[in-house]
Amino acid sequence: MAVETAEKANAVVEQALASIGDLATLPEVTIKIIEIVENPRSTARELHGVIKNDPALSMKILKVVNSAFYGLPGQIASVDRAIILLGLSAVKNIAIAASIARLFKGKRISEQFSAADLWRHSVAVGVGARALARCSPHPAMPEEIFVAGLIHDIGTLVERQAFPDQFATVIQRCTDEEGLDFLECERQVIGADHQAFGVGLTTKWKFPRHLRASVGFHHNPETLSVELRNMARLIHVADVLACQEQVGFYLTAQYDEITPEMLEALNLSQEQFDEVRATLAEQVSDAETTLSS
Ligand SMILES: [Fe+2]
Repeated sequence: MAVETAEKANAVVEQALASIGDLATLPEVTIKIIEIVENPRSTARELHGVIKNDPALSMKILKVVNSAFYGLPGQIASVDRAIILLGLSAVKNIAIAASIARLFKGKRISEQFSAADLWRHSVAVGVGARALARCSPHPAMPEEIFVAGLIHDIGTLVERQAFPDQFATVIQRCTDEEGLDFLECERQVIGADHQAFGVGLTTKWKFPRHLRASVGFHHNPETLSVELRNMARLIHVADVLACQEQVGFYLTAQYDEITPEMLEALNLSQEQFDEVRATLAEQVSDAETTLSS
């Protein structure tokens, strides 16, 4: 992107973020949790202190950690036990996952797009990316990967709220004209794409670098540095998979395909990938039940 175009896109993102009110704010408790966990000097006691002041969030965290979806059904009776067993970072990611669903609300803006469909797609990408990551002999931060999936398209919520008519136009055009590039169309009609809006929002939320990078580059992970690339690659593959399986909203990435090179880059065999595909729908409905309020 030329410098001038990039500057214009940044200005559009800034202006949109300033205008969207509620969506731009995560619950205060979630922001506090992120701050605590990102500070290397923080302790488990501090994290527990913040979570226990919010009984609804405490309940939700326990619901998630004890769900079939999380894999420790019925074993953890208190938040401090969850922190001891799972660690600060896992509990932080569960808290983010538990507080993010409420953002995906609001009325349908067009036949092809509703926030509920986007939520379903996002859950599918989170579940799929986490399942793919688990195939690796050293799965890195599965809960962070799940959160990366949940938020990868969050920029579209900014567009929907700040530019509802233009966003509906983008979706209509991409539905009508087969092969039209969704991101290019967003840039033409709105002035920036959902990756840029997603980076703007997650920066405002002070999300960690890996999460911001995977939101900002999930359609083109290869442009990232080696250190940040892997998570974005997982999200990209899971995104295409969810679109192919038509779980929830599936306009973006629907013309992409998963190549042997993409699987190889993630050290995944075709069999492992097919297994994730086969279990995706069931896992999505487990996760949806667990995260719904
Ligand atoms: Fe996307």
